[in-house]
Amino acid sequence: MSDTTPPTERLKVLVVGAGAMGSQIALVAALAGHDVALADVDADALDRADRQLRERMSQQVAKGRRAAADVAAAFDRLALHTDPAAGAEDADLVIEAVVEDLDVKRELFATLGQVCRADTILASNTSSFVPSRLADAAPHPERFVNLHFFNPALVMRCVEVVRGPDTSDDVAARSVAFVEGLGKQPVVLEKEINGFIANRILNAVRDEAIRLHEAGIASVESIDLACRTALGYPMGPFELMDLTGIDIGYRTKLARHAETNDPADLPSRTVTDLVEAGHLGRKTGRGFYTYDTPDQTTGA
Ligand SMILES: NC(=O)c1ccc[n+]([C@@H]2O[C@H](COP(=O)([O-])OP(=O)(O)OC[C@H]3O[C@@H](n4cnc5c(N)ncnc54)[C@H](O)[C@@H]3O)[C@@H](O)[C@H]2O)c1
Repeated sequence: MSDTTPPTERLKVLVVGAGAMGSQIALVAALAGHDVALADVDADALDRADRQLRERMSQQVAKGRRAAADVAAAFDRLALHTDPAAGAEDADLVIEAVVEDLDVKRELFATLGQVCRADTILASNTSSFVPSRLADAAPHPERFVNLHFFNPALVMRCVEVVRGPDTSDDVAARSVAFVEGLGKQPVVLEKEINGFIANRILNAVRDEAIRLHEAGIASVESIDLACRTALGYPMGPFELMDLTGIDIGYRTKLARHAETNDPADLPSRTVTDLVEAGHLGRKTGRGFYTYDTPDQTTGA
């Protein structure tokens, strides 16, 4: 009934940031048998996370996908805190999932570095910053690694384990064992690179789809059709951009351009026009496609 795998070792895990990612990562770890502290500076975010996680688990129990006893035990192992360093002195592993702001993350790791043991693994779930941008914020950069979960973390199996230049073999191996113990699939990057693996490939496909469309080679519908029927994608790149929110990819491109200054990293004309017109995809009722009613549950 339960799809969780018992952990080889019961760890004390601190997850900092109770938003879309951190809340689900924390529950994944608790379901796998670890003792988890979930911390957020915003008490409302913790309340929201608790409510959403409990609703989601009740639905899974009602559908027979999880045993009620497993879920109850997981919530017993999950404690909520408004102090971001709660329990950090005992933690075996810290997973940071706070806002995507380098200064906020570095400040948090500096604080954690003063409290955590020297052998505590410090991990970030960031999508944008390679380990070397964060690892030196705390002492012992060899214990730093990126553990990049995908959204929704309760469902998606892949976790990219991104080694920085200083990450030790021991920390990489313990990180892989932790991810396997969650019942997830670790994918190790031996060297850091912006975007990691999955998002780089996704972005390359998206950029090529936009280029084909802008060159007048084929319609949005035809390009999506080719991806679905020839490549076996569950949805085409334009359908996916509409689902995740066109503004998200637009902002990612602008951030990348701010770092590289390479004009090739700027958002495309088509995407810029859509964002400026407020056509952000499903959430506004229009993006590359038009929808009958806006869907406020989509987008990040
Ligand atoms: N959303 C996604 O699809 C996705 C996927 C993979 C990775 N990520 C990464 O996960 C991280 C979090 O993303 P999210 O979408 O969950 O963000 P979110 O905005 O939903 O949540 C961020 C949370 O961090 C909290 N926070 C901010 N500063 C804090 C601090 N100093 N201490 C404690 N809590 C603090 C906020 O109150 C908020 O609840 C980001 O680094 C992002 O790149 C996001």
